[in-house]
Amino acid sequence: MEKNIESHLKETRVFKPARSFAAKALVGSLQQYRRMHRDSIRQPEKFWAREARELTWQKPWKKVLEWKPPFAKWFVGGKLNLAENCLDRHLQGPRRNKAAIIWEGEPGEKRVLTYQQLHRDVCRFANVLKRNKIRKGDRVIIYLPTIPEAAIAMLACARIGAVHSVVFGGFSADSIRDRIADCGATAVITADGGYRRGAIVPLKHNVDEALKGETTIKRVIVFRRAGNDVHIEQGRDVWWHRELEYVDAHCPPVALASEHPLYILYTSGSTGKPKGILHTTGGYLVGIHSTSKYVFDLREDDIYWCTADVGWVTGHSYVVYGPLAAGATTLMYEGAPNWPEPDRFWRIIEEYAVSILYTAPTAIRAFIRWGDQWVKKHDLSSLRLLGTVGEPINPEAWMWYRKTIGGGRCPIVDTWWQTETGAIMITPLPGAIPTKPGSATLPFFGVDAAVVDAKGKEVPPNVGGKLIIRRPWPAMLRSIYGDKPRYKKQYWSEFKNNYFTGDGARRDKDGYFWIVGRIDDVLNVAGHRLGTSEIESALVSHPQVAEAAAVGRPDELKGQGVVVFVTLKSGVKPTPSLKEELRRHVGQHIGAIAKPDEVRFAEALPKTRSGKIMRRLLKEIASGKTVTGDTTTLEDFSVLAKLGSAEE
Ligand code: PRX
Repeated sequence: MEKNIESHLKETRVFKPARSFAAKALVGSLQQYRRMHRDSIRQPEKFWAREARELTWQKPWKKVLEWKPPFAKWFVGGKLNLAENCLDRHLQGPRRNKAAIIWEGEPGEKRVLTYQQLHRDVCRFANVLKRNKIRKGDRVIIYLPTIPEAAIAMLACARIGAVHSVVFGGFSADSIRDRIADCGATAVITADGGYRRGAIVPLKHNVDEALKGETTIKRVIVFRRAGNDVHIEQGRDVWWHRELEYVDAHCPPVALASEHPLYILYTSGSTGKPKGILHTTGGYLVGIHSTSKYVFDLREDDIYWCTADVGWVTGHSYVVYGPLAAGATTLMYEGAPNWPEPDRFWRIIEEYAVSILYTAPTAIRAFIRWGDQWVKKHDLSSLRLLGTVGEPINPEAWMWYRKTIGGGRCPIVDTWWQTETGAIMITPLPGAIPTKPGSATLPFFGVDAAVVDAKGKEVPPNVGGKLIIRRPWPAMLRSIYGDKPRYKKQYWSEFKNNYFTGDGARRDKDGYFWIVGRIDDVLNVAGHRLGTSEIESALVSHPQVAEAAAVGRPDELKGQGVVVFVTLKSGVKPTPSLKEELRRHVGQHIGAIAKPDEVRFAEALPKTRSGKIMRRLLKEIASGKTVTGDTTTLEDFSVLAKLGSAEE
């Protein structure tokens, strides 16, 4: 029988919301959260209907939920438009002239778009789409840098009911080609180029490569961003700015069925060909609106900055749709955090008086590595709330974030969710839920999450197992585009009528969730199943370590031995005695069972382009094999080369 994942990491620090924060918060006490959560689980449809009524519907729904496992329909019979909810809805009152988007380009340009201006730009571009024969239901690839036009293109598609699929600007021609073929897209919206670490990424050129040979694409709309030379294919390619000359700003939002597809976003998962995750309109909007409001506790005067690229789901839900639906000011930054110097983020926070910062653990670990001096140069006193997403955050990185960025004053919301879930699922509410470093704490309203064993039975406190969601939620994926069997098999077959997340987790005695990472990454050492995140967190708690990845390699005696890859903070020398010290350190923190068999120092770890450590590749290196698996999502190939040739 499959054994449960064991948990050895002990974390006892608890941070209660400050009274001053709680007093102004939407949900201001643990008691209030518990009552609201209990009610939302007893009567989820009542809870979600109330949330949905805060939004604009062109036609009311007849039924909140139709659930024929594993297929859900939300707000059946209702009609609405997502762009109308993000824009037109705010034009009646004082938000009309409020900044909707504040943008900074990597080279330093600045732009501010008010809600009224953004509305006008979206309407005009929606008319450009119509002029180019893009219709309701058509699939459109968006391949743009993080510039306001990315949001404009997404919202314009939503306004006319075209289905967008944003492809991250760092992906290659092959990735674009695969995605076009999978969803049968007829148009691409791109730019001549975008900036990354001072260089121009040749976006249009990549599109040209992707369209060589047979393609379904009939039209390419090109925004002039970087001014680099591009090829314009007559009859296929048009310039964004030229097209605008032919249109006006009148474009009424189309009334779309609640289940009308909104977007397809490809996610690679750990193996196999990328899956086109399909999200639809009504439920998705309700989910992201509700979570934006409660999790970020948005106030009218907040300057909210989510640092994700628009190419990821975080960019969709919490750079564009969520904050705009909530009428917030969302900041977008195009480039790298260490360009021209490692203090770019802190410079931006100081300049725009950012009050909410939402970023990823991988970024936080990089900041730690670069050193506190870059932070100390800037006044970060405008911050009032911090967030993280994307990976388990090591407790020591969490503590650093709280102290060095948050000045000890800002609550941290460690939000667990996935491309598939569409919206945040497990998270603190900052005025209500006491936080523990490394825990995503408790489920959001209407979310029925549990940790179960192989048979689907809930495990006792502090025993590891698989994380599942036991009922549908509005922002959930509706299918894998064009592949319902794979959707069923991937998410709903392991535990009947329950959604399997693919993650391992445990709950502590307070019911808090601790995500230990992807189930595929779990190690099996002498019959003990260990989550990678705990070993990594133990290493990161050593004062000289910046980042760590733990993987297994075949071991005759133990089944698997533990190999760890460690990057050190700037200026620390990698020595054999430090290796020994780190082994001991893990032994002390977790127990002898987790003591690494081998410690390897690395200059950098291989990561996906969204910043997740690719343990699969490290596993191959650790067992002395050459890397054979799919490496198309790898961010920096030179990292792999350096790891292969023994370091030090
Ligand atoms: O393993 C979990 C991890 O990221 C996975 C989802 O990745 P993706 O679809 O790319 O979406 C990322 C942005 C939502 C999850 O299955 N993950 C995400 N957030 C957390 C996390 N692991 C631990 N703690 C988190 N807060």
